[in-house]
Amino acid sequence: MHELDNAVVMVCGGAGFIGSHFVRLLAEKYPRSKVVIFDALTYAGNLSTIQDLLSERVTFVQGKIQDPATVNGAIEANHVTHIVNFAAESHNDRSILDPGSFIHTDVFGVFVLCEATNKYKIAKYVQVSTDEVYGSIDQGRFNEDSPIMPNTPYSASKAGGDLQARAHHITFGTPVCVTRGGNNYGPYQYPEKLISFFAVRLLQGKKVPLYGDGTQVREWIHVADHCRGILTVLLSGVPGTVYNIGDENERQNKQIVRILLEETGQNDELVKRIEDPRKGAHDKRYSMTSDRTRALGWKPQEDFETQVRNTVKWYRDNEWWWQPIIALPVYQDFVKAFYGRYLGEDL
Ligand code: NAD
Ligand code: DAU
Repeated sequence: MHELDNAVVMVCGGAGFIGSHFVRLLAEKYPRSKVVIFDALTYAGNLSTIQDLLSERVTFVQGKIQDPATVNGAIEANHVTHIVNFAAESHNDRSILDPGSFIHTDVFGVFVLCEATNKYKIAKYVQVSTDEVYGSIDQGRFNEDSPIMPNTPYSASKAGGDLQARAHHITFGTPVCVTRGGNNYGPYQYPEKLISFFAVRLLQGKKVPLYGDGTQVREWIHVADHCRGILTVLLSGVPGTVYNIGDENERQNKQIVRILLEETGQNDELVKRIEDPRKGAHDKRYSMTSDRTRALGWKPQEDFETQVRNTVKWYRDNEWWWQPIIALPVYQDFVKAFYGRYLGEDL
């Protein structure tokens, strides 16, 4: 019998992009475990993403992680034994328009989950964080002992959550691990991030806004590899420890756009280079080592270019998922507010 066979795992943010992939992985690998998807269903969370997963063993509770009554109620009612938290405001560009909302979820929400972990003697809590908390690095790589130097309201709020987790472990012995992932891509990503936003727009024959000269570098990891890394930390991570989860696969934005153009059959004319809307907060390069997670037996398996192309194919074949999302005012209002002055009539 495996440790997770009798587990009840509360996956916060499980109706979002990465969280839903994690629920799929758990349900497939540990069909005898129970999963409670706890999600506020913000603009980024969609029941359509998880509808096929819901069953007697995989249930859904709507709630905000910063609301202790709802969090505690879900834990008590379902006898939760483990927590993995994906819930967050996750988009840098939105954190430029509305930085305050990020603090409620990404900082206070983590505090609430730490308190609940102590109160209900949760066996393990994994807080899913990001490589962005280290800030930008021109040369070399960050590791888990590098200082935290976030540059955007989003990454500063994630860093605040990481520090809550650290302080709770040190002060109260909270059994919490923090993971820091690189840039994810794959199916079911809300169409606002570089790959998902561009794929959906190019498939519609619309212009795409490339910020600045497009030479910024991100360390890309396929969502399946990221989720396998998080599961490894859930199973074997040492409480109080940070684990980087990256693929050491660095690409400039413009290199990615080239693959997206090829796969959608579009040409350069649809790429509109715009003045950088992130200004000083646009980190030049993310890069980190993930040796500590590799030492637990994890390693990335997916090939980047193949999987970017598969991701575009997925968006091409699954308009049923993204067409209703981009038809909503909450999507269109953001695109207008953020890109209106750059793309003009071409929204
Ligand atoms: P996402 O925006 O697609 O999904 C976030 C989910 O959390 C949504 O389902 C949303 O409804 C839910 N949510 C938001 N606020 C909530 C709240 N207050 N209470 C409960 N649920 C709430 O995000 P994602 O890209 O899947 O990222 C998941 C996590 O992984 C985030 O914590 C993010 O910081 C981290 N991360 C993301 C990436 C990436 O490239 N996308 C990389 C590394 C780490
Ligand atoms: O590094 C991990 C982080 O990756 C996660 O913590 C975040 O949740 C996730 O959103 C992502 O953050 P980035 O800001 O790096 O991702 P994004 O896809 O928004 O942008 C990637 C790069 O592409 C960045 O240099 C900005 C650029 N870009 C992005 C968009 C949306 C463009 O040039 N045009 C665009 O329209």
